[in-house]
Amino acid sequence: MAQLKLPLTVLGIETSCDETAAAIVRLCPDKVEVLSDRIASQTEAHALYGGVVPEIAARAHVERLDGLIRLAMSDARVVWDDLEGVAATAGPGLIGGVMVGLSTAKAIALGRNLPLLAVNHLEGHALSPRLSGDVPFPYLLLLVSGGHCQFIAVEALGRYHRLGSTIDDAVGEAFDKTAKLLGLAAPGGPNVERAAKEGDPHVVDLPRPLLDRPGLDMSFSGLKTAVRRAAGERMLTDRRRADICASFQSAVADILAAKSARAMALFASRQKGSPRFVVAGGVAANGMLRMRLEAESRRAGFAFSAPPLRWCTDNAAMIALAGAEHLRAGNFAPLDVAARARWPLDPEAEPAYGGGKKGAKA
Ligand code: KG4
Ligand code: ZN
Repeated sequence: MAQLKLPLTVLGIETSCDETAAAIVRLCPDKVEVLSDRIASQTEAHALYGGVVPEIAARAHVERLDGLIRLAMSDARVVWDDLEGVAATAGPGLIGGVMVGLSTAKAIALGRNLPLLAVNHLEGHALSPRLSGDVPFPYLLLLVSGGHCQFIAVEALGRYHRLGSTIDDAVGEAFDKTAKLLGLAAPGGPNVERAAKEGDPHVVDLPRPLLDRPGLDMSFSGLKTAVRRAAGERMLTDRRRADICASFQSAVADILAAKSARAMALFASRQKGSPRFVVAGGVAANGMLRMRLEAESRRAGFAFSAPPLRWCTDNAAMIALAGAEHLRAGNFAPLDVAARARWPLDPEAEPAYGGGKKGAKA
């Protein structure tokens, strides 16, 4: 299909979990402009329940989304006629929330006669480093979020090959469960990171699962069990809590750094040109992890990119950008496109790398 001319200005909507977000992004020939970027977090609404409650999340999206879209448009000083498309997360995620965002985008598309872009939330994360500058394709991506932990070869828009992934818990989930076990409030990741700053990572001995095995698959559920054991061993003082957090964070960083080094070796052996390693998703906001991955990239001769913290966790700017890139390529969605609770980024699981369905060997 013929490419559309730039610039393209797109409204993005994100409602797949517990952030309601709307943003306006303009894709220009030589840069990306984020004209506005609004996020309303629901952390307080879920605090009582120790985790995200899907029904509460969906209701909060319904209550807030229209107002946020209006704010995003006025921040950006755009009116409906300035838009070339409307993009929304169409999955994966909590289905009630996804339906709220996608239905709103459909209504706007129908009412204003605009193309609809149905964006895979994981693709939003995968493209998020491109919001802030020059991150050309191809690159190796480590996607670390609340529901995913995967190495992906990002070859071009729409060409994603999974090289390896967690075989059990996502790494963000491990942060969240660790926080819960230690009595820390949500959101788990940032609170574990804060507590870890006061702790000693050498006091509590935690495992590094699957590090002794070849390949890029990872596992975090054993780590969570070890945290539970350590938490129950003796009185949970602030000191002890901080030591467990520091040890947990350091175990996660060791696992991800070692697997990233292997992933870079595999990627470099199959990709020509100067290689780049990118980390994205909520856990990419973790300062220690960013530092370790940057050092690992330097050692492997890879350029390193990570989005600014605001665009690591869920946001609508990344959805608007993914939408704008698909709009340029002419990949519009029909108005009856369905919301999807599950939607893998690479349904085939790395055919180009010769691995089976279970992940490539490195
Ligand atoms: O990408 P994201 O906002 O939502 C999903 O698509 O899942 O990721 C949320 C995850 C949560 O598990 C949260 O605890 C984790 O990212 N996270 C962090 C940090 N900030 C958020 N994990 C570790 N350190 C952080 N600073
Ligand atoms: Zn996300």
